[in-house]
Amino acid sequence: MKAIIGGTGVYDTSHNTTIKRVKTKYGQVELDIINIEGEDIIFLARHGKGHSAPPHLINYRANMMALKELGVKYIYGTAAVGSCNENYIPGDVVVIKDFIDFTKSRPMTFFEGGNEPVKHVDMSDPYCKNLREKFYNESKKYGLEIKGDAVYVCTEGPRFETAAEIRMYKSLGGDVVGMTSVPEVVLAKELGMCYSTIGIITNWCTGISGEIELHDIQGAMNRNKERITKIFIKIFKE
Ligand code: HPA
Repeated sequence: MKAIIGGTGVYDTSHNTTIKRVKTKYGQVELDIINIEGEDIIFLARHGKGHSAPPHLINYRANMMALKELGVKYIYGTAAVGSCNENYIPGDVVVIKDFIDFTKSRPMTFFEGGNEPVKHVDMSDPYCKNLREKFYNESKKYGLEIKGDAVYVCTEGPRFETAAEIRMYKSLGGDVVGMTSVPEVVLAKELGMCYSTIGIITNWCTGISGEIELHDIQGAMNRNKERITKIFIKIFKE
C-alpha cells in the first residue's frame, strides 16, 4: 500500500473513494482510499478533515500507526514551508532532505519504556533517498522544476517565528521552516515506512521580506499541490 499525506482535495472522484476509519492505540483516524485506475492509494489529511488540528496538536502517532496498520510501505507528503534561503522563493518546490527539530511538546516516539526495548532509529537519511530520487526524475518528465534539496526546521507553532529566531535557524543551516514534519518523519522511520516530504514554499520567513499572509500560503499550496500529487501518483503506479 502507498499513501499520500496532505494531498487531499485533488481527486474529487467520490464514486471511487472509500472512507476508512482505523482505530489505533493512539486514537481513531479517518482516511480516504481512492481507487485510481485500478490501484488503491490512501490519502490522509494530516490535520484531520476540515483542517481541524493545529500543527502542535496533530495526533501524529495515530496518523502514522493507522497507515502502518493498513499495510503502507511508501509515503509521500506535501508541506507548506516558509523560506529563509534567498535561492528558494515563494512558489518554489523543494525536496526536504534533512531536518532540525525545534518542537517542544509533542509525543515524539512509539517507544515509551515498559517491556518493549527502545529502538534508536538511524537519522542519517531521515527522508527516504529512493523516494526523493524518484520525485526528481519524475518531475523532470512533467516539467515541474524542483529548486533543490532543503533542510527543514520544524518549529512548535502555531505562532510564526520571530525575526531573531529565523536568523538563528538560518545560521544553523536551515533552508525552510514549517511546523509538521517532526515527528511525522521520525514516526514513519520507527515503523519502517519509507517517507518523503516535498516542500512548497509559501512565504518568506519572518524578517526576510514583508509580513506572512495566510492567504498567500493557501494560494501557493493550491497552485502546486495538484501537480505534485499527480507526480506522486505516477511514481506509485510505475
Ligand atoms: N513558518 C512556519 N511554518 C510555516 C511557514 C513559516 O514561515 N510557512 C508555512 N508554514
